[in-house]
Amino acid sequence: MDLYAENILEHYRSPRGKKPINDGAWSVVHHEDNPSCGDELTIGLKVENGKITAVAWDGSGCAISQAAMSMLSEELIGKDIADAPGKKEVLELLGVPVSARRMKCAMLGLHTLLNAAKKIEGGKLNS
Ligand code: FES
Repeated sequence: MDLYAENILEHYRSPRGKKPINDGAWSVVHHEDNPSCGDELTIGLKVENGKITAVAWDGSGCAISQAAMSMLSEELIGKDIADAPGKKEVLELLGVPVSARRMKCAMLGLHTLLNAAKKIEGGKLNS
């Protein structure tokens, strides 16, 4: 097993930012699942003046989907919602070639984040 795969397993075993999401505590909460396998993620973002000030997520699934969400969550604090990482950055964070079959796993977190951001843009904030 190479170093990069080890990094994915490390995030999977010790996920950053993972905790139960209480809707009322967040500016926006969004849930997504991957229908082909049932793996799921829920993200909570606190946003002040367009900047992400806090992130948490919860979910279950394969090592790639959960590790990618863990890695992504570390990148978001202090970022403008418009400057959130994209597909290329997520693949760089994972650091291993991702096959077409696993691309949905790798992108589940990003998909969840982007759809949460759409809710913010659409003014659908909690509070
Ligand atoms: Fe379900 Fe990876 S197998 S997201």
